[in-house]
Amino acid sequence: MSVIAIVSQKGGSGKTTLALHLATHAAYKKMQTVVVDTDPQATAAAWGAWRGDFLPAVVTSPPARLARTIENAQKEGVGLVVIDTPPHAEAAMREAIKVADMVLIPTRPRAFDLHALEGIADMVSFAGTPAFVLFNGVPARASKMIAQARATVKELGLEVCPVMFGERADFHRSSAKGEVASEIDPEGKAAGEVAALWKWVKKALA
Ligand SMILES: Nc1ncnc2c1ncn2[C@@H]1O[C@H](COP(=O)(O)OP(=O)(O)OP(=O)(O)O)[C@@H](O)[C@H]1O
Ligand SMILES: [Mg+2]
Repeated sequence: MSVIAIVSQKGGSGKTTLALHLATHAAYKKMQTVVVDTDPQATAAAWGAWRGDFLPAVVTSPPARLARTIENAQKEGVGLVVIDTPPHAEAAMREAIKVADMVLIPTRPRAFDLHALEGIADMVSFAGTPAFVLFNGVPARASKMIAQARATVKELGLEVCPVMFGERADFHRSSAKGEVASEIDPEGKAAGEVAALWKWVKKALA
């Protein structure tokens, strides 16, 4: 079983969007997948409730029970656990990083957002969990912005995920309805980015 933690200190960086899209894609690829929502706002859980019986399963777990929740998933033969975490919550992030095989850190590629990565860089290097920054909400024609963001991330000692998510209406339109981008627009760019991410994640976890 693989465990991916989605963390970032900043609110609205795209944690829940990333968690739900990655988990749903994996579920479509026949991987038994569970999203564990550790955010008291329970956004992922609400999405799961709107969605009804469609995959993936979404469960809630307070950070203090996370290790037990992961253990139970393992016993049930789950292949992939994706943990969504709250913003501004060091303890919750720390717990998620501790139980994860890989950490994905979504961030908008702008200076103030990148600045908020410092705390996470320390946490992941302490835990020794492989961690990758994923640029999210990337505007069109932003190659200079991305080059700068990459340099900043490297300076912090973090790695950059080679797949980025653009600023795309399919991401927020679909989530708001309990769906994912590929379900409202299978040929769209957002769906393609999620597929590319899953391909990369699978290799990185192997
Ligand atoms: N790549 C994207 N393109 C367009 N909209 C996006 C993208 N990523 C996220 N969003 C939208 O931005 C908003 C915040 O995203 P999301 O809820 O995933 O962030 P979060 O990090 O989970 O927030 P919080 O810290 O409050 O839990 C949502 O409305 C979401 O639909
Ligand atoms: Mg969220």
